[in-house]
Amino acid sequence: MSVTTAWGIVGLGNIAGKFASDLALVPGTRLRAVASRDVHKARSFSEEFGAEQAYGSYAALFADPEVEVVYIASPHSFHREHTLAALQAGKHVLCEKPMGINSREVKQVLDLAGKKGLFLMEALWSRFNPSIREVYQLVRTGDLGPLSYLRADFAFPALDRDPLGRLLNPALAGGSLLDIGIYPVFLAYLLLGVPGDFKVLAHFHGSGVEKQIALLFDYPEAIAVLYSGFSSRSEMKAEISCRDGSIFLSPRWHRAESYTVEREGEMSHIELPLKGSGYTYEIEEVQSCLKEGKVQSDLWSWEDSRALHDLLDKIRQSAGIAFPGES
Ligand SMILES: NC(=O)c1ccc[n+]([C@@H]2O[C@H](COP(=O)([O-])OP(=O)(O)OC[C@H]3O[C@@H](n4cnc5c(N)ncnc54)[C@H](OP(=O)(O)O)[C@@H]3O)[C@@H](O)[C@H]2O)c1
Repeated sequence: MSVTTAWGIVGLGNIAGKFASDLALVPGTRLRAVASRDVHKARSFSEEFGAEQAYGSYAALFADPEVEVVYIASPHSFHREHTLAALQAGKHVLCEKPMGINSREVKQVLDLAGKKGLFLMEALWSRFNPSIREVYQLVRTGDLGPLSYLRADFAFPALDRDPLGRLLNPALAGGSLLDIGIYPVFLAYLLLGVPGDFKVLAHFHGSGVEKQIALLFDYPEAIAVLYSGFSSRSEMKAEISCRDGSIFLSPRWHRAESYTVEREGEMSHIELPLKGSGYTYEIEEVQSCLKEGKVQSDLWSWEDSRALHDLLDKIRQSAGIAFPGES
């Protein structure tokens, strides 16, 4: 690796701009290139965020010998294809969540990264959020007694969005579960692991995508109550309830800037304001892994992505969520 890591971004939509702003806040990075299917869009993005090169195809960016690591910000149904292409070109990859639309796709990209000896990580940015990291450590110490009840949700109204856009379009693997439901499922997985069993209830939109989903995860000594949906707004305060006290991740919990611990009626509130929009932490993790020559992160490993997507597959199967072209 060079002293400054040269990043490329493909898929210049909503999240790509926020990511590019945060990239500029992380020392040791430079935005070498951006790529869109539309070269005019790539040029205007590049002017706004100070990229050195603007490409009108993703293939051109993958072929740029100076790009070291690519951030994939395309819709879900293209993550596999774009990640495989970047890895084939010898690039390290940070791929937006979900890393694939099912565990078979996730396995394919992980296998190629392993074969090529390249870094690959699913951009589950909440894993690197400072409040969530502290809460994870607090639960692990067992200081509050065993965790027995977890509640987390993620919802916003989106049913009036473009039916061809990525949220409501089955061809782009739309629906709430892979887009935002992945966060509550992630939190339960992080703090409690893979559930022994689960119950699911899903409602569907006219386009065929799942529009709201409720999950009950069953653990030997705990229950997690999870929800995501596109039909309303939810509070998005996560509750982590242990025998001797509770922890509350402040709204919106997946990008929390504080949390509260309640123990025997005493409340302590811990403020941890985000640097930038909060994508800085996953970028720092990539930078640190590359510096150490690692191909995966210890905080969100390949095994974590595998386990999460195995679980999401089972949930989708039980709820009857399928995408076109999937066997
Ligand atoms: N971590 C987070 O907080 C967060 C937040 C939002 C989204 N995300 C994730 O980021 C990814 C992108 O989400 P987004 O909200 O940025 O989506 P978006 O605004 O729709 O942008 C997606 C981009 O993908 C590219 N693309 C390539 N092939 C496409 C196709 N056939 N149809 C449509 N777009 C295509 C387009 O870029 P070009 O036109 O430039 O080629 C498009 O602008 C998703 O995986 C999503 O889950 C993460």
